[in-house]
Amino acid sequence: MSNQINIGELTVNRIGLGTNRLTDTPENRELLRYTVTSGVNFIDSAYVYTGGASETTIGDTLAPYPDDLVVATKGGMIPPSSMNSPGNNSEAFLRSNLEESMRRLKTDSITLYQLHRVDPDVPLSQTMGLLKQFQTEGKIRYIGLSEVRVEQLTEARKYAEVVSVQNHYSLTERQHDAVVDYCTANNIVFIPFFPLRGVNDAQNHALQTIGDKYQVNSQQIALAWLLERSPMMLPIPGTLSKQHLQENVNVFKIQLSDEDYARLTEIGD
Ligand SMILES: NC(=O)c1ccc[n+]([C@@H]2O[C@H](COP(=O)([O-])OP(=O)(O)OC[C@H]3O[C@@H](n4cnc5c(N)ncnc54)[C@H](OP(=O)(O)O)[C@@H]3O)[C@@H](O)[C@H]2O)c1
Repeated sequence: MSNQINIGELTVNRIGLGTNRLTDTPENRELLRYTVTSGVNFIDSAYVYTGGASETTIGDTLAPYPDDLVVATKGGMIPPSSMNSPGNNSEAFLRSNLEESMRRLKTDSITLYQLHRVDPDVPLSQTMGLLKQFQTEGKIRYIGLSEVRVEQLTEARKYAEVVSVQNHYSLTERQHDAVVDYCTANNIVFIPFFPLRGVNDAQNHALQTIGDKYQVNSQQIALAWLLERSPMMLPIPGTLSKQHLQENVNVFKIQLSDEDYARLTEIGD
């Protein structure tokens, strides 16, 4: 199992950092500096996170970015940030999101730009055409989608190359199994969001029992299961703790047995 994954022509390690709680504090700036020295070189943000502070803090702390760091962001969701916030994929809205993200992130080109939500009122052909236009203008390098079904992904790929999909997925939340399988078959990076949330006490106890065998905690076991689930999986656990960040990177050292992988799959079912 490789600990790395390709995003287009770039290669990153298969544990990233989610930043939907990141605000501009000295501790969080320190966390970001620590992140890039700790083996994490994929950071996920969005226009709507923490009222813009997530992107601004990343830009103010890390720009100009090292060559091996991918900072991904998203646009096309009406604030505030929430699972159920609707998409707005009008040209005016998406373009102003992108321009503002570039300004906050202090970059003239976003490496991975993800459509945060599909807008049911705008045809996908039009939205993908606009994202392709952003590529032609040099403002974004690669296109990703978020919270999409297989049919939407298949349709979107007719209009532009899609390198990644970011959907709600974890050991205990498998509604997007078909999307994971589609991404795996088609070499598309699958970025599970909420990779750690949604574990009840009984599941946590069962995870910890397996974790004890590997001398790791239940969160690390849940991430190890995700890495094993597909070679195209790139989890982005969100943390504001250096210790947790290091634990999450240490997941690369866990080699789950086939038997434990199967038991974990059952626990989450
Ligand atoms: N595309 C979308 O629509 C969408 C929606 C939601 C989220 N996202 C993205 O997905 C990322 C991940 O989601 P999330 O951060 O909300 O949820 P998550 O990663 O599933 O869980 C985060 C929680 O886990 C804790 N944690 C992290 N590592 C840990 C460890 N090793 N041990 C114990 N606890 C640990 C964090 O607390 P500590 O701070 O104490 O570590 C936090 O309470 C977000 O940051 C965001 O980038 C995308």
